[in-house]
Amino acid sequence: MNIGKVLRYLNRGYQRNGLNGFKNLMKNYWVLQREPEIVDTEVLTVIIEPTVRCNLNCITCSEVTRGRTKKDMSFSEFKSILDQFPYAIKLALQGVGEPLLNRDLFRMIRLAKERKIYVYFNSNGTLLDEENSNWLIQSGLDLINFSIDGGTKEVYEKIRRGASFEEFRRRVKRFMEIKGAHPLPEVHAWFVLNQYNREDILPTLRFIRDLGISKLNIQRMHTWGRKDKRDVVNDDEFLKLKGIKEEVTIASEEIGISVEWLWDIEDKKPIRRCQAPWYTTYITVEGYVTPCCVHGSDPQLIRFGQLKENSFKEIWNGKEYQEFRKMLKSDSPPSICRECPAYSQGILN
Ligand SMILES: C[S@@+](CC[C@H](N)C(=O)[O-])C[C@H]1O[C@@H](n2cnc3c(N)ncnc32)[C@H](O)[C@@H]1O
Ligand code: SF4
Ligand code: SF4
Repeated sequence: MNIGKVLRYLNRGYQRNGLNGFKNLMKNYWVLQREPEIVDTEVLTVIIEPTVRCNLNCITCSEVTRGRTKKDMSFSEFKSILDQFPYAIKLALQGVGEPLLNRDLFRMIRLAKERKIYVYFNSNGTLLDEENSNWLIQSGLDLINFSIDGGTKEVYEKIRRGASFEEFRRRVKRFMEIKGAHPLPEVHAWFVLNQYNREDILPTLRFIRDLGISKLNIQRMHTWGRKDKRDVVNDDEFLKLKGIKEEVTIASEEIGISVEWLWDIEDKKPIRRCQAPWYTTYITVEGYVTPCCVHGSDPQLIRFGQLKENSFKEIWNGKEYQEFRKMLKSDSPPSICRECPAYSQGILN
């Protein structure tokens, strides 16, 4: 962790809970050193899934929500969940689904902002219009990442099935015009690297520059813990990326876009770096508690409890969470973690 990031965390902890927020962060630092099975600190980053509905069907994603009948989280459900995270300093308002489809999203953002929480989410950008663009900009939202996955029509539409490249451009462009000089939200682009788009990073840099976006986050694709996504993730293809990475670094400087490689493509070391169950958690639309937003976000594969039946405090240190922490530390990690790229990289938030 770099010093800038540490200071930002301390500042957010202090803003939210004064000296107690500061203390929770310091205590959490020691928790991360010791990795106990029972965690006596409060969660710092909470990920809350507002909807599992989506207007697209991306090749990287969609099957995860198959069979789930509850589609949206209501504002009152959201509030009662957020109340259980008095020390959270970051809220990711997203899961599997398009956040803009939840009609209460604006109220959710406002509530979290009143509580001085840093709020962000990713969006496919294809549902932006005059109304929601205006309210997003007025809401106090800190960061929005527009998912792009391709800088040419062919690649973008192959991956983001159901979306139109021209429409995406038009809507995001209009959003940027409405935002104008308003400082928030920060706007970044999000690129999930897979074997179909690795040649498309340079066109993407030019494309987002023309939209007025100054940063591209490149994330490695994962399988959501499911075997049927393996055909899109091809490890051999990643090894070929070394050269492309150098090319992208040079081009990004010329084009004037900052690029962040969120998961190092060269790093295949088996050392565990993920510490998710010691500081973050994921709440699904149904109220299930799961470990993370990567392979551990699907309640059909893993869950520690249900907030309609138990409080978060009970679940956070319940038997299932404790067992998960114990296994994650061991030489025999939980099955969802074994093939998770975040196992050796750590997760993002
Ligand atoms: C599941 S989406 C939900 C938000 C919104 N619908 C969107 O597409 O931005 C959250 C992020 O996960 C990314 N994503 C989708 N499939 C992925 C995969 N297999 N591996 C890594 N990230 C993935 C999307 O590109 C998006 O940026
Ligand atoms: S990645 Fe986002 S836009 Fe694409 S299907 Fe998944 S939730 Fe929908
Ligand atoms: S290794 Fe992956 S699946 Fe396991 S807790 Fe970490 S991020 Fe989640």
